[in-house]
Parts: sequence; C-alpha cells; structure tokens
Amino acid sequence: MITTSAPGKVILFGEHAVVYGRPALAVPLPDIRAYAEVEHAPPGSGLTIESLDLKLSFTLAEAARRGLAQMAAITLEWLDESEPDAVVRISSRIPVAGGLGSGAAVSAAVGRALAAYFDRTVPPAELSALVYEVEKTYHGTPSGIDNTVVCYEKPVFFVKGQIPQLFSIDQPFLLLVGDTGMPGLTRETVGQVRVGWQADPEPYETLFDRIGRISKQARQAIEDGAVDALGPLMDENQRSLELLGVSSPELNRLIKGAREAGALGAKLSGGGGGGNMIALVSKSRQMTVRDALLQAGASQVLTTEIR
Ligand code: PMV
Repeated sequence: MITTSAPGKVILFGEHAVVYGRPALAVPLPDIRAYAEVEHAPPGSGLTIESLDLKLSFTLAEAARRGLAQMAAITLEWLDESEPDAVVRISSRIPVAGGLGSGAAVSAAVGRALAAYFDRTVPPAELSALVYEVEKTYHGTPSGIDNTVVCYEKPVFFVKGQIPQLFSIDQPFLLLVGDTGMPGLTRETVGQVRVGWQADPEPYETLFDRIGRISKQARQAIEDGAVDALGPLMDENQRSLELLGVSSPELNRLIKGAREAGALGAKLSGGGGGGNMIALVSKSRQMTVRDALLQAGASQVLTTEIR
C-alpha cells in the first residue's frame, strides 16, 4: 500500500481581487493534510475511489462526472496509463467547505496516489494544472490560487495567468484559524461580486486595486521579517472585503473577538460568507485569543506557525 498526501492552505491576502487579476498571497498548512492510500484490487475490478469521511465509494466507470473521478481520469491520461485494478482510499483532516483548500488537497492527493501506483510522480506545475481542471468543476471560475499553493506546498504570490512566484518567509509567525462552523460559500460570494462588478465596475475596481496593493506590501513585509506590519494590513484587507460584501455576521464576530483579545490583525480567509477567519497573534497572546475565538462562537480553532 502507498500513501500520498497534500496540505490545506490559507489565503493570507488578496482573495476575490485575485479573480480580477490582482495579486494574492497564500501559504500551505503543512500539518493539516488530505491523504490518499492506493492498493491493488482483484483483476477486472477497475479503479474504485472510497472516502470514509464522506461515506462514498464509486468506481471510475460509475462516476465520470464526480470531481474525484475526473481527477483520476485526467491523471491517468497525463500518465498515459489505462485504468488500473486498484482502490484509492481518501481521508482528510482539512475541514470541508471552510476555505482551507480541502477540495484541491484531496484532488492533489488522489493524483499523487495514482502516479505512485505506477512508480511515477507528477511535478507540481503539472499536478496543479490537473487539479485546476477539477476546481473548475467545483467552483466555476477559480483563480487557480488553491491548486497552486496546495501542489507546490510553498508560500505563493499568485497572479492569475502568470507563473506562480514562490517567496520566502524571513521570520516565522503564528496564525490562529477560526472556523465559523458555517459552510464557506465561495461559489456564491464570487458570483455576487461578479454581479455587483458588472452593474457598477468602478467601486469594485477601486477595492480590487486597494487589495492588490495590500498583497504587495504584505509580501514585502513577510520577506523582510517585518511581521508587525502584517496585522494592520490584515485589518485593512478585511475592511475592503466587508465593503465587497463577502464577510458575514459570524465572521465579523470572530474577527472582533480576536482583535479585542489582542490579535495583531484579523480577516476572513477564502471565499467568505462563512468558513474560516485568520488572526495573527504573538506567542504570549495565543491562548487568550484562542479562548476569545471559542467564546465568540468558533466551532474549531487551529494554530499554525507560518515558516
Ligand atoms: O474559498 P476558497 O479557499 O476556495 O478561496 C476562494 C478565493 C477566491 O479568491 C474568493 C476565489 C478564487 O478562485 O480565487
């Protein structure tokens, strides 16, 4: 049996504006991962994909239109292999529909598992392109940031349609990831922003420009180790996201709770409408802010060091 995996991710800056060509920053969550195990099955059984978490089991032939079957099919095509007699079992520690990249990570793990079955590997750029095809099935018009960060497993400065720029982190920093417990509504919020932008592009373009500038400043601060500058940039990014209309009362409550408890900055992360928020914290305030998030209604709080 072979096991492969891929990490979750958080968008630090630039969600939504990234769909309109502005830069965004995202980092992997190396400790929160999706896994795929692959093992041989009896001759003639074909490929079965199973998910214990989602209580799903289907063969490639049965489910041509499911995202994961699509991932398996396009990976086999890329490998130039025919359907193996095998079982791929998926499990994931990444909360589903939380803006943490669970869909992209599961797809990436499946792609890696199938390649490993044939003693092959898929390089990050190629894997990312395959996962992007599946992301389109899930999300409609994804920018491509999720598949990129999940497949490269590196911090990325991402501009749609350009080769992703990997960047370095001079000083590690601590993030708390607070889950509203409400599903993230990426497809809907991206759709709402599009409808608003089509009706009256100017205010939207102004907000996208502002967010794009914040992403650039944040990259510089992270590369320079100027972690203190990041908190105010997160708060400023959150203001623009609220003006775009993609925050929610639950997200706002967690963000307010985190700030009042001493977070250096806080914002929603991902599509919004629900899902997760992130708070930048010092080591000394970490537990206080964590408690405040739970108090403010977080269903779960993850702690991750970005390094
Ligand atoms: O909700 P997530 O983590 O899939 O992030 C969506 C990010 C958006 O910028 C809102 C959409 C996109 O495709 O980039």
